[in-house]
Amino acid sequence: MDRIRVHGGRALAGTVPVNGAKNAALPALAAALLTDQPLRLTNVPNVRDVITMFRVLEHLGGQAAVDGSLCTVRMPRILEPEAPYALVRRMRASVLVLGPLLARTGRARVSLPGGCAIGERPINLHLEGLSRLGAEVDLVHGYITARSRRLHGADITFAARTVTGTENLMMAAALAEGRTVLRNCAMEPEIEDLATLLNAMGGRIGGAGTETIAIEGVETMHGAGHRIMPDRIEAGTFVIAGAITRGAVCVTGCNPKHLTALTQTLEGAGVPLVIQDDSIATGPWDRLIGRDIATAPYPGFATDLQAQAMALLTQAEGTSIITENIFENRFMHTGELRRMGADITLEGHAAIVRGPTPLSGAPLMATDLRASASLIIAALVAEGTSIVNRIYHIDRGYEKIEEKLGALGAAIERLRGEE
Ligand code: EPZ
Repeated sequence: MDRIRVHGGRALAGTVPVNGAKNAALPALAAALLTDQPLRLTNVPNVRDVITMFRVLEHLGGQAAVDGSLCTVRMPRILEPEAPYALVRRMRASVLVLGPLLARTGRARVSLPGGCAIGERPINLHLEGLSRLGAEVDLVHGYITARSRRLHGADITFAARTVTGTENLMMAAALAEGRTVLRNCAMEPEIEDLATLLNAMGGRIGGAGTETIAIEGVETMHGAGHRIMPDRIEAGTFVIAGAITRGAVCVTGCNPKHLTALTQTLEGAGVPLVIQDDSIATGPWDRLIGRDIATAPYPGFATDLQAQAMALLTQAEGTSIITENIFENRFMHTGELRRMGADITLEGHAAIVRGPTPLSGAPLMATDLRASASLIIAALVAEGTSIVNRIYHIDRGYEKIEEKLGALGAAIERLRGEE
């Protein structure tokens, strides 16, 4: 297993472009199941979760051809509408094939995703929604089985906002008979990006990005081209990396509007930012003041940036209270940050960070995708050397992060293979 070694203490400087969004590319690839014609997706990030989704689509009878960040996916026919345990256990987001498979073939058998490091993560809202669209849904031997002669429109209110739940239902309803209205929807930009693709495929979806989405079902959908939106979480990660080193980093090719909760928090803490249409640049700061953060569904503070922000706030004066409201177990990084010398105490869903505390380099263990990013960020300002283990987590959602940080002046490298 590869590891990443970081020698801390250098201020980052320079420009770093962001890739397409993992969490927009995954549902876009699943949408290919809705038609027998090719989808041409550009700006697709070369990250491990995307590769896993290719495997799922190939298992279902599809072909995925990659040429740089252009990816052409064809699902001319679907052999057996099944997403096996071996693939779903690698990536929960595989559940995104459930809605489109059911809509296209009238049948789906998808391994029920188990819990993961950050929480239980049930999919009851996905299944309840599909039942409301007329599907018979069962759980047999660890697999969700769903069948329906043809899905029909319905008026569905989500009990809680769910990103992939909204995406799954949007895709299922796109080919259903009649009109569907989804209420209390998640409003993440990735949902809007998916709706743009589905409408380019001949879908009739309105309201994506708001709490209420209306879908007029169509008989068939066709091929289309679509550029995946920029990755706001990758962008936020690099902005925080620049900020923690008091560096002059310009993150380009992003949409700052998608990061308002983060940029407001950073400016409130004393980090000077220059924000333009498609870039965010950090500047050196004198004093960093503690801030409270409470994660929330979009446009609130993204839970996927909580760990990275915590690393930064270990360097802030005073107390910062970080409340995690989305996932019940998303503080796995605190133990590792404490091993570096951070002063963090956990109380229920809150982490109390006191600072500033000097950090010292240490051997570290990554536990999930965003936790691993926070450890690398902390290592950038730690005295001495850190080695981050189990970085397969970070490769799931960041393309060559060590090369990008290296290009900004970080003393960082990937160590291939075992110790
Ligand atoms: C998406 O996960 C993202 N993944 C996650 O990013 C992100 O953390 C999350 O949204 C929240 O923003 C993808 O888009 C592939 P949810 P998702 O359904 O859709 C509960 C990353 O780091 N819930 O919005 O699985 C759930 O347990 C990943 O890139 C139910 O109870 O998240 C959670 O507490 C990690 N029942 C809350 O809702 C359901 O049926 C929000 O989850 C569905 C969700």
